[in-house]
Amino acid sequence: MSDDQDNGQATGRALPERGLPAERVLGDIGALRAGDRPTHGGRLFAYVYDPAVPGLDELAAAAHASSAHVNGLDPTAFPSLLAMENALVGAASRLLGGGPASTAPDVVGSVTSGGTESLILAVKAARDARPDVAAPRIAVPVTAHAAFAKAAHYLRVALDPVPVDPVTLRPSAAAVAAAIGPDTVLVACSAPSYAHGVVDPVAEIAAVAAEAGVRCHVDACFGGWTLPWLRRLGEPVPPFDFAVAGVTSISVDLHKYAYAPKGVSVLLHRTPALRAPQFFAYADWPGYTMVNPVIASTRSGGPIAAAYATLRHLGEDGYLRLAAATRDAVAGLADAVRGTDGLRLLAEPESTVVCFTSTDPTLDLFVLVDELTARGWHTQPQLSYADLPASVHLTVTAAVAPRVAEFGPDLADAAAAARAAGPVELPAELTALAATLTPDALTPELVAGLAAALGLGGPGAGPGGAAADGAGGAAARPGGSADGAGGFAPDATVNALLDAAPPALRERLLVEFVGLLQRPTY
Ligand SMILES: Cc1ncc(COP(=O)(O)O)c(C=O)c1O
Repeated sequence: MSDDQDNGQATGRALPERGLPAERVLGDIGALRAGDRPTHGGRLFAYVYDPAVPGLDELAAAAHASSAHVNGLDPTAFPSLLAMENALVGAASRLLGGGPASTAPDVVGSVTSGGTESLILAVKAARDARPDVAAPRIAVPVTAHAAFAKAAHYLRVALDPVPVDPVTLRPSAAAVAAAIGPDTVLVACSAPSYAHGVVDPVAEIAAVAAEAGVRCHVDACFGGWTLPWLRRLGEPVPPFDFAVAGVTSISVDLHKYAYAPKGVSVLLHRTPALRAPQFFAYADWPGYTMVNPVIASTRSGGPIAAAYATLRHLGEDGYLRLAAATRDAVAGLADAVRGTDGLRLLAEPESTVVCFTSTDPTLDLFVLVDELTARGWHTQPQLSYADLPASVHLTVTAAVAPRVAEFGPDLADAAAAARAAGPVELPAELTALAATLTPDALTPELVAGLAAALGLGGPGAGPGGAAADGAGGAAARPGGSADGAGGFAPDATVNALLDAAPPALRERLLVEFVGLLQRPTY
């Protein structure tokens, strides 16, 4: 096939005039993938969960392919999918304190596409269970995942942020109680939080929620599939699941620490009655009668079959082994941080996160992140927030274990290089702009000018971009300039600018910058 069919572009047309052979198409995708962060190899600390188990990718891909065309729209037409979903929900329930031999024998659940969908549905179920409340509200710790804010936004539910202690990074039950009012339909907590990896005091929070007659959702999207194994390994994991009275629902993502390919989370409710308002049914049209337990209507069976295969292949013994490897990797990485001058752990690791900050004004964390990227370590910068300093987040998976010994020397080296380079110095006018500009005053011209000044690409920019996928919080993806990927290079300068701006302006800038990336290629 001639190149002109593809318009001579690096990214081939999705719809060429004449179809291309399979090898060519796969080769092109492979070429595009070369610009991505490395999904395997234990050097990527966000976005991807890799157990490094030989053969698992192939198994999951084969299972995915076997059910990719099956449609979850109608569980009676495709009983295979219903059977696999029920088995996944059963596994999650049993792991999280539900099931026949427990104090929560009536747990039911649904398989969703991810943590965000699970949280949106937990909020929807809580909202729709209270038709008597005209203006529903949810009380959510500020450290809880941003998906709660998204749920509140989508569902027109007001969000009452609950402050956290700046040292423990946890909300107190008293602060949660203070946030509960007559219109509160849901209280949320994290086990653990994504940003810092700390487990909220679930038992105390669930008690105040129960006392007020309000649902309590435990967001265990991130850690629900590791905390139980860590507990079995003897780690001091506080109670956080259905064994805790007052916990009404729990979310756990299988595409995180269950190591399934993306697109699978489980939302559990303590009883069928609690789940009922989650469903949507519609029969008032001339087409097929519709009942959707989750947000999507047509759903591929691929991710569900892949998750089912992953769980069955790894088994309890496999997850225990992977949790032990991850725990050891966390300990090694935390030691590396403790051993590096000018860095401090923001929280003592108690799950699978290592999060650190800088104690030295000459050591700029955003510059450090770029230096680590240049050394092949892909970490996640987190902007300063209220009284919490900027930090660097590492999501640690089992694949990291064999790499840990290499991290310490590279961290020391990167820290020395970051000190030598010095902190980012934004041009004075940019700092002033970030501090004073209101989101409404951002004109397209101003955005274009800012993007150009920061070296961010415009239409047609290559792969790369801000963390717009829900896993990453507000910070732009690290170190793009260090690897020369595409035309969008969010680096220390971009992070410094975002860090200087208040949250509302950060949000608006991110929307504008990602809007510049999302342009059709012809
Ligand atoms: C605690 C927590 N909740 C919810 C989510 C959102 O999950 P997803 O990105 O699968 O929508 C995440 C993602 O990292 C998370 O860590």
